[in-house]
Amino acid sequence: MPTLAHVSDLHATPVRVENPLDFASKRIFGWLSWRLKRHKIHRAEVLEALERDLETVAPDHVAVTGDLTNVACSFEFSEALAWLERLGSPELLSLVPGNHDAYVKVPREGTWSLWEPYLASDDPARGPEFPTLRRRGELALVGLCSATPTRPLLASGSLGPAQLERLEKLLGELRGSGLCRVVLVHHPITDGTVTPRRRLTDAAALREVLKRAGAELVIHGHGHHQHFATTAGPSGEIPVVGVASASDARRAEYHLYDVERHEDGFRISVRVRAYEPARGEFAASGERAL
Ligand SMILES: [Fe+2]
Repeated sequence: MPTLAHVSDLHATPVRVENPLDFASKRIFGWLSWRLKRHKIHRAEVLEALERDLETVAPDHVAVTGDLTNVACSFEFSEALAWLERLGSPELLSLVPGNHDAYVKVPREGTWSLWEPYLASDDPARGPEFPTLRRRGELALVGLCSATPTRPLLASGSLGPAQLERLEKLLGELRGSGLCRVVLVHHPITDGTVTPRRRLTDAAALREVLKRAGAELVIHGHGHHQHFATTAGPSGEIPVVGVASASDARRAEYHLYDVERHEDGFRISVRVRAYEPARGEFAASGERAL
């Protein structure tokens, strides 16, 4: 079975005011936040250490659950693409967007379209709609989009009934395939993981879909902290794991999943790699069975 790395919340693109008109919007709040605090937290040197560590650890695939940018300016999408390309090819790396990548409403062309090779389903016939499906070995990576523009001071997300309906159909179709279904989503899906203003508004409806259709693992970011939970599936609990930000100079982390096939399903364990500020490198920081 392939080893899957999970990284999230890179916030890899420093905020610059190239066009003041871009900031006559919610972006002014993001610019202030970046200037006052976030530029000290999300550091390029941590991402460079991540790049080195991924090269050494050499996972079979890397899942990135969004928030590559800060305020979704067009230059951020091309700078984030450069980071993606440094981390791996579209064959090696799968992406779903986060709320910062939809900080304000942006045209797809010149923004998300730049990331298309990393976002898209394997089968072009599935189109650009979410959920996406990418198969890597015995992993079926199901990508959701919870990134939607919101009012100032909100960082919530939503999937919407149409995406949830397509998700239930897709998970149902995959159920008998023998593949390990891994759901990628930016926002946490369990209550209380983040504050109400940062929540997934239709998390309860998503949990109902998972209860009926099942999945083997759900991974998310957004909380900027490690979080382990479960949600009900049709035949037992589904592990739900949140990862910290991969660029946080104080406590960056990423996860490595090892999946084993057993007669009664899959056994999944996670290894944590944490950034050590004193050394400027990532190192092993514990593991647990899910
Ligand atoms: Fe986020």
